[in-house]
Amino acid sequence: MSDYQLRVSKIRNGTVIDHIAAGQALNVLAILGIDGSDGHGVSIGMNVSSDRLGRKDILKVEDRELSQSEVDVLSLIAPEATINIVRDFDVVEKNRVERPDRVSGLLSCPNHNCITNADEPVETAFDVISDGVRCNYCGTIIHERIAEHLAVE
Ligand code: CTP
Ligand code: ZN
Repeated sequence: MSDYQLRVSKIRNGTVIDHIAAGQALNVLAILGIDGSDGHGVSIGMNVSSDRLGRKDILKVEDRELSQSEVDVLSLIAPEATINIVRDFDVVEKNRVERPDRVSGLLSCPNHNCITNADEPVETAFDVISDGVRCNYCGTIIHERIAEHLAVE
């Protein structure tokens, strides 16, 4: 049993997001809009040792199952993540995240002249390409550290 499991117990019902790249757990919570305000239990393990990844982050969200579209956006910052649906203490489903073709309203464009940064009610949209994401409006490509461009608070 790992040190993390000794500290954080198994959950009865909910979702365990495992194999998140170390340091990205809080960004994952931000993307999912989870801040604990709905009263559900949330456990966060950061820099936990992992055979596969060396170090990883892990999240346990009780009494909430994430939809496939919710987890798709995670692929941008946590491509190795595994989504485990837990019911009555058993893992009943295990899914890998999938890269979506496009993300809307999630990232802000780093180009200050982009129309999405003007005083216009334009929602951002980025196409997911092999080496990053590309703004639909101005073509700017974000290659790295995508989480720094998250529009969510
Ligand atoms: N888990 C949990 N509560 C449960 C069941 C599982 O918190 N009632 C957690 C486990 O601690 C683990 C993850 O959910 O972090 C996946 O569980 P499981 O599939 O049993 O573990 P592994 O086989 O190690 O998963 P993988 O092969 O994906 O690494
Ligand atoms: Zn743009």
